[in-house]
Amino acid sequence: MCCHGFVTLTLLQGGSAYKLVCYFTNWAQYRAGLGYFVPDNIDPYLCTHLIYSFANISNNKITSKEWNDVTLYHTFNDLKKRNPNLKTLLAIGGAKFGSKGFHPMVDSSESRSTFINSVIPFLRHNDFNGLDIDWIYPELNEKPFFASLIHELAVAFREEAKNSRKEKLLLSVGVAAGRQKIDNSYEIKDLASDVDFINLLSFDFHGSWDNPLVTGHNSPLSKGSQDQRNSAYYNVEYAVNYWKKQGMPGEKIIMGIPMFGRSFTLSTPSSNSGVGAPANGAGTPGQFTAEGGFLAYYEVCQFIQGATVKKIPEQQVSYAVKGNQWVGFDDVESVETKVQYLKNSRLGGAMIWSIDLDDFTGEFCKKGPFPLLQAIKKTLDSASKGIGKAKE
Ligand SMILES: *[C@@H]1O[C@H](CO)[C@@H](O)[C@H](O)[C@H]1NC(C)=O
Repeated sequence: MCCHGFVTLTLLQGGSAYKLVCYFTNWAQYRAGLGYFVPDNIDPYLCTHLIYSFANISNNKITSKEWNDVTLYHTFNDLKKRNPNLKTLLAIGGAKFGSKGFHPMVDSSESRSTFINSVIPFLRHNDFNGLDIDWIYPELNEKPFFASLIHELAVAFREEAKNSRKEKLLLSVGVAAGRQKIDNSYEIKDLASDVDFINLLSFDFHGSWDNPLVTGHNSPLSKGSQDQRNSAYYNVEYAVNYWKKQGMPGEKIIMGIPMFGRSFTLSTPSSNSGVGAPANGAGTPGQFTAEGGFLAYYEVCQFIQGATVKKIPEQQVSYAVKGNQWVGFDDVESVETKVQYLKNSRLGGAMIWSIDLDDFTGEFCKKGPFPLLQAIKKTLDSASKGIGKAKE
């Protein structure tokens, strides 16, 4: 009874009640030619939330990172003039930043307070609506420091909203999807009451760091027949259910969907090229992203020319093989299945890493601009509850 009016209103205001959270990376501007991506390339109507990655911490205060960040913040946040419902957040952290970037800031309540007191005016001044913390990932001994940081940010954001009478700054965190990391890193019930939502990094389940080194999919929806012991945890369904079981409300879970694949170089391409095939290293770097073992979706579309593409039916995702190169990736069909799954599971929405890795020009995949993001948005917005392929 209580919520009919709310639901109707939300739908009338255009679009679905689900969040579609899109990360943007400030290093995509350094990709050549058709890979070049800046905030001007963002369609302001595709995502409900845009997250600018990454800012830095210096002398315990938030700072910009790239030489032209302040200019890019401006064009990024100006997208809200075209879509007033859009929310923007600024992210701190990332894989390279690691844990070390958060020290010494997190180590004492004084230095955390210095940080928090720098964050609020920085966000307000640059017209962001919130902060996203991407600590990849707190170790067991850092867990209380991470929890304190998040809690103190949450309290400060609430307080500032009350005093300024402005809309509260949003607080989100990018969180691990691997079971051991979840156990080590988070006090989930406290986190649930502190944050507006979590961005579940439900990808990087397999890659060229695996030991033993065999092929596996970056972001399988379900457990595969090859998954023994710990690798039984390495799929989207397990991660979502584990977060829920530990106390994170479904509506605060924003499920990550990668706009990239993870690639391998096969050891014995002619005899064994399925899931679990022996590999001897990362796949060849893509022409634009130039990182071994990683291909943007648009580079996957390049790669697929002349490759053999196969589905992994039990995991509801695909891979492609060409010569000694193997890549597991998401396509239009797999992202639609994942969105049906998150709707059936009553999650808060979808997150993508990242908007600059989709085929934003439409030149590579020939399905129009942003084919994966468009498919995610369309499936989120559709009335269907998805009784189809996705399991509850
Ligand atoms: C980030 O801040 C640290 C600490 O001041 C500094 O050493 C580092 O060079 C900064 N990184 C960038 C990319 O500006």
